[in-house]
Amino acid sequence: MPVVTIARDQEIAVVTVDNPPVNALSQALRQGLWEAVATLDADPQVAAVVLICAGRTFIAGADVSEFGKPPMEPHLPDLVARIEGAAKPWIAAIHGSALGGGFEVAMGCRFRVALTDATVGLPEVTLGIVPGAGGTVRTPRLAGVEVAVDLATSGKPLSAEKAHNAGLIDAVAQGDLREAATAFARMALAKPLPQPVSARPVVAPGAQFWFEKEKAIVKAAKGAAAPMRALACLRYAAEAAFGEAMAYERETFLDLRGSEQADALRHVFFAERAAPRPAALREVEPQPIRSAAVVGGGTMGAGIIAALRAAGLPVILIEREDEAVTRGLANVAQIFDRAASRGTMSAAQAQALTEGVTGSTEYARLSKADLVIEAVFEDIEVKRAVFAQLGRHCRPDAVLATNTSYLDPRLIVEGLPNPERFLGLHFFSPANVMKLLEIVPVPETSARTLSTTFALARLLKKVPVQAGICEGFIGNRILKRYRAAAEGLVRQGVPIAEVDAAMRGYGFAMGPFEAQDLGGLDIAFLQREGARAAGQLVPETLGDILVRAGRKGQKTGGGWYDYTLDERRPVPSATVMELLCAEITPGVELAHPAIATALVNEMAAEGQAILDEGIADTPADIDLVEIHGYGFPRWRGGPMFATRARR
Ligand code: 3HC
Ligand code: NAI
Repeated sequence: MPVVTIARDQEIAVVTVDNPPVNALSQALRQGLWEAVATLDADPQVAAVVLICAGRTFIAGADVSEFGKPPMEPHLPDLVARIEGAAKPWIAAIHGSALGGGFEVAMGCRFRVALTDATVGLPEVTLGIVPGAGGTVRTPRLAGVEVAVDLATSGKPLSAEKAHNAGLIDAVAQGDLREAATAFARMALAKPLPQPVSARPVVAPGAQFWFEKEKAIVKAAKGAAAPMRALACLRYAAEAAFGEAMAYERETFLDLRGSEQADALRHVFFAERAAPRPAALREVEPQPIRSAAVVGGGTMGAGIIAALRAAGLPVILIEREDEAVTRGLANVAQIFDRAASRGTMSAAQAQALTEGVTGSTEYARLSKADLVIEAVFEDIEVKRAVFAQLGRHCRPDAVLATNTSYLDPRLIVEGLPNPERFLGLHFFSPANVMKLLEIVPVPETSARTLSTTFALARLLKKVPVQAGICEGFIGNRILKRYRAAAEGLVRQGVPIAEVDAAMRGYGFAMGPFEAQDLGGLDIAFLQREGARAAGQLVPETLGDILVRAGRKGQKTGGGWYDYTLDERRPVPSATVMELLCAEITPGVELAHPAIATALVNEMAAEGQAILDEGIADTPADIDLVEIHGYGFPRWRGGPMFATRARR
């Protein structure tokens, strides 16, 4: 089947691209379009050309899998120029997403028509590169510099409506796109044609504009190089001639394409796409999930309910008493109300989402639920009592999951009838925001149950990673080693604030000590105390000393740092130094990169142990856990990718 076919609707030619899954611009597709221009230019019957795509989307970009290979002709910028210079005007008919090279092809067309639910964008910076076929040069000519800067430096797509308002597309259509675009073409032919985009002028902003954008972009990028390079291309596009700006953009694109950051971001791109559909489950049909229930409406339960509701599922909340039901429902309502006040959803949407949750203390209400997630106190007896009730009241095939952080799910499932439908689903806090979902099967868990929870992850738009059973599963186990190693540096005399600054310098939003102050030191402390009470040998940590002195983090006005009540800014603490002085042997001085290398090596070493024990399947899974659960900088590719040469 050819990737490009040409049909005719009287004087309008319709060029259809069909290159599944996302019509990426492979060499064959570029060649097909290149030849289509020549064919249609030579056909005197053709007055205009509609470019449309088969399948789920318009052209979604360059073919990322070709990035590691030498570029092959025809090169994309040449193809875009050829479409722009065609003797007949081309009209891009956009459905799904016109992204990166796809949007660049659309900008080579004389007009762009998009369905209402389509999006357009320049996501190249999310792959560590800049647009390579005129994205930074043509966008400001269509929509002005401000819009172009937002589009190309954030990588975030725009809805058809917003793109229309910004001048990036000419018309928004509903219904049959091919008909709408053909009708648009006939209408356009009746009027004088606009200039090709490359010939349109740009209004160049002054130096202050660039200075402010630079400041904001450096801050948001947290070490990622591509957004600043995209800004430099845009400035060139605003200030230099079209041809020079194209050459500068291409040079930047080729330079970044082979960079370490682009390599890392491609690794994450493919890992994220592989994660929701593990090969081992490809043939296993998931069970439908049409309704859900959550037991426990505290921090995690409320967040999980919000995630389930946002995916459109009706949810029942079960709590232990009426007051707790009311509190749990209020926790959920608060999540949606906050979203509405931030403007991420309308008040009506928030109300509809809230109203889709019903609360009860009666397990009998769960007789029809397809899925139940338990998020009660982290206490084995409490959890077992909950599953005893679930075993009694739920359908024998309802999927039953625990959100435990540290308890052994094998102990929770003991005595549950039909244990093949049970497993751990470890969400991260806040569960409606964090993308990571650790899926933890017990030996009895069936492939169907696993397949169903991967389907659930896709529905919730989470990044699922299967984990074996060990203390802390994948993520919290690595976190424990990371924190211990950070404490180890402090014991050797590295100042707490220097460790945090080093990890921020590496690309984390927060260092390990600041993060503990924010989350509270008491949770991990109580867990260690529990293990000690159970007779395990758990050495005293520096964190234990602080908690015993009442320093549990920001909520108590101090943890690793001091905080004034109204400010969250950490201030190095003399009290902490006094409390810890007996444990610290000064002597080691490390520069920030050495601190970061030491700590990332520790994470990777724990990751390797996790792989060796079969707790995780691939290094990429560990990278996804760290990026989506623990704020590891995406552009570093995760601890396993970042240390691959050193391991
Ligand atoms: N190149 C190669 N393969 C791609 C691809 C691309 N640009 N985009 C997606 N794919 C593949 C995925 O790897 C996946 O493969 P698999 O089925 O074998 O796992 C398959 O297409 C489907 O992808 P998704 O699961 O992501 O499909 P969705 O329907 O959920 O999403 C999408 C569709 C919104 C188009 C999403 O795939 C996407 O955002 N793709 C990336 C778009 C992008 O970044 N484009 C810019 C590329 S860089 C560029 O164009 C440079 C230029 O300026 C020169
Ligand atoms: P929480 O204390 O905020 O909420 C627990 C809720 O469970 C309370 O509302 C309580 O009333 C309810 N509950 C207790 N016993 C119950 C019973 N028998 N029946 C019905 N409801 C009952 O706790 P949180 O933080 O939400 O944690 C819940 C679970 O999620 C724990 O297993 C925890 O380890 C796990 N978890 C917590 C994370 C976090 O960051 N807080 C992250 C990931 C998992």
